[in-house]
Amino acid sequence: MSRGYFTHGGVSFPRLLYSPRGLEAAREFPVEDDDVFNVTYQKSGTVWMLEILSLIRSDGDPGWCRSVPNWDRGPWLETLLGLRRARGNPRPRLISSHLPVQLFPRAFFTSKAKVIYTVRNPKDVLVSLFHFSRIFRPYKDPGTLESFMDQFLRGEVPFGSWFQHVRGWLQLRGHPNFFCITYEELQQDLRGSVTRLCEFLGRPLSAGAIDAVVANASFAAMSQNPMSNFSLSPLFILDLRRGPFLRKGVCGDWRNHLSAEQSARFDRAYRRHMAGLGVRFPWDPPPGSPPGGTAAEETPPGTPPDSPGIPQTPPGPHLPSPPPPTHPTPPP
Ligand code: A3P
Repeated sequence: MSRGYFTHGGVSFPRLLYSPRGLEAAREFPVEDDDVFNVTYQKSGTVWMLEILSLIRSDGDPGWCRSVPNWDRGPWLETLLGLRRARGNPRPRLISSHLPVQLFPRAFFTSKAKVIYTVRNPKDVLVSLFHFSRIFRPYKDPGTLESFMDQFLRGEVPFGSWFQHVRGWLQLRGHPNFFCITYEELQQDLRGSVTRLCEFLGRPLSAGAIDAVVANASFAAMSQNPMSNFSLSPLFILDLRRGPFLRKGVCGDWRNHLSAEQSARFDRAYRRHMAGLGVRFPWDPPPGSPPGGTAAEETPPGTPPDSPGIPQTPPGPHLPSPPPPTHPTPPP
């Protein structure tokens, strides 16, 4: 088995699951106006959001989620198998993707299809990805957390730089077909988040149906559902003997892994890469905090996000043309 990576559009992908041909096919994917895309940087809550969207599509009825694997309900566009499945699925389709915006299907940008973009505290993404890299066989062994953190901050991991991914996608904020939410908001208020998602999707649900979405998308429910916990995944892809896919499912686990020095180094890179974005995330420091402190340092785990900070705008007709490709992240 090869654990090699190749680079496409400046972004690294593992050969075992991805190919330049597949990524080109994804770029030319024929988007339908009623497609709903579940987009994330990896380890930011992709399968959680997929479960929520599957349940909303089923009016809270868990039957679909309990009978069809999540990778068939909302296939990953960037794999050839996922792309084929996405093409064949009945409309309205749910489609997942970790692609950075510059590699996303061109047709999306002139369609009325919707993107839901979920963002997570990058320190928790780092820790989650570190553990995931030990069980996901297409990925290289992560080595030590110290060295893996350096690779992560340089964007030298599959799917590239977290900073570039988030900055790239957030160029679409304010557009009517783009909805940004954080993992932390889902944790803090899942019911309220589901309600907002229903509004964005134009699919109002009854209070009872929303309760059912919330109950069936819980960490416990998903962990026990073989269609959602990846226990059906072949061993050559995912080695669950080394740890579960649904690992902890909490905010702030980075505190159990990063030293004070590592955390401070991460914060410096974060500030440099995110400067000027004009978006405040739940993990960012309150305005006026002294330099050197970020919410990533200051906020204890479980602290409610004080503001989603990501404005949504009223409905309008279309998204604009795709933004220009972003440039590789300089080393921190
Ligand atoms: P941890 O490794 O921190 O536990 P992705 O789906 O993008 O790969 O993200 C995986 C992360 O989302 C894992 O984080 C996983 O446990 C978490 N997750 C998945 N379902 C969840 C749920 N229902 N509630 C909370 N976290 C969930």
